[in-house]
Amino acid sequence: MKKNRVKKAIEPILPAISLAYIAQQYFGKSRQNIYQKINNLTINGTEYNFSDGEIDVMINGLKDINRNITKSIGMLQHTKRIRAKHYTNNNPFNHQMFKEWLYQIPNHHKLKYLEPFAGSNNIIQLAQDINNNINDWSCYDIEPPITNNVPQYKIIKRDTIKSFPSGYDVIITNPPYLGKSSASRRKLNFPDTHYDDLYKLCLDIMLNNCPYVAAIIPESFITSGLFHNRLFGVISLNSKMFNDTDCPVCLGLFIPNNQDNGDFKVYIGDDYVGMYNDSKQYDLSEYVKSNNNWVFNDSQGSIGVKCVDSQKGADIYFHRGEIIDPNKIKVSSRAFTRIGGLPENIDLDRFIAECNKELGLYRDNTKDIFMTSFKGLRKDGKYRRRIDFKTIRYILNKVLKRQYPNI
Ligand SMILES: C[S@@+](CC[C@H](N)C(=O)[O-])C[C@H]1O[C@@H](n2cnc3c(N)ncnc32)[C@H](O)[C@@H]1O
Repeated sequence: MKKNRVKKAIEPILPAISLAYIAQQYFGKSRQNIYQKINNLTINGTEYNFSDGEIDVMINGLKDINRNITKSIGMLQHTKRIRAKHYTNNNPFNHQMFKEWLYQIPNHHKLKYLEPFAGSNNIIQLAQDINNNINDWSCYDIEPPITNNVPQYKIIKRDTIKSFPSGYDVIITNPPYLGKSSASRRKLNFPDTHYDDLYKLCLDIMLNNCPYVAAIIPESFITSGLFHNRLFGVISLNSKMFNDTDCPVCLGLFIPNNQDNGDFKVYIGDDYVGMYNDSKQYDLSEYVKSNNNWVFNDSQGSIGVKCVDSQKGADIYFHRGEIIDPNKIKVSSRAFTRIGGLPENIDLDRFIAECNKELGLYRDNTKDIFMTSFKGLRKDGKYRRRIDFKTIRYILNKVLKRQYPNI
């Protein structure tokens, strides 16, 4: 009776455990020996069964395995928590403004969602992590990859640029990016369009076909001036989102009609910058004109500018030109420059200090949104920025006009 009970007690877990391990580890016997006892086999007239002492060994062995399983479960749960945290930190949809955009869409959870450039369905996975109420997705890709991170939604093969699927309410996507000049340099096909980047054409097509669009697109979109009449807001995504690219990106959130005369909210990560047009009042473009003739990339220029932030921080600055070797100045120089044309009677160091003060104010007031992002994040988690020659010129003009109004 007792022997049957032993078998009955352990039968449900037998397929999941290794009898060889139990036999060796706890009984110091062969697998065959324990197998014979579990099954009450009679061999050469001897009936094999467990003694009471051996039942204790089995109980202690299973308790030991149980402890190890519990420990493994705990470790796996910890790993999952760490991963989930990392994942959510980099999830662009885990943002207050994305949720604001989504929840203002009437009946958002009952609508038809589209991912027209699905890749491996990463976007759907990220969106589902934030909102599980969205249950009606259609996914397309010109070349569906083998991996599908959300197999519940099949990825249908289709060139959605040539033949865009209609009848959807909301698009959430990350369309392809490809500059026209880069395509021609790399001898890649580029559609017949006036847009200089494929993502702009994709945006145009999506906005023509769908009332609500959320798209992860290059950060330079913010200053492109495109589709402002449809923008709800833009978030510059300053945490590294993709493993395969350093391209600075933002999340553009579009609605059927912008109610704020083309104005929209701008965030840099979680920091609210303000309304776009409010920042525009600091864009310095009123200083476009000056009587002075500045000469950029003048190898002998008395003013120098370091035009790109380093990874250490926001360290674009004006300095004495002589710091830069004249031989290093080329017509095409953009990372640094020497500028000639400062009127002779002006104190160079004072002028440079004023320019740096003005640059600091400009950066503070605009939170850098008009400055082109440069690939790679700074130590403070923000994108490196580059100042273009036009903005440098504005700063020079402004300082000249304010400090030396008679020139
Ligand atoms: C930047 S990837 C984004 C993939 C995915 N949305 C994500 O975030 O992981 C762009 C995707 O668009 C697809 N694609 C490019 N041109 C396309 C076209 N004409 N029609 C449909 N999909 C296209 C590419 O195959 C690629 O998977």
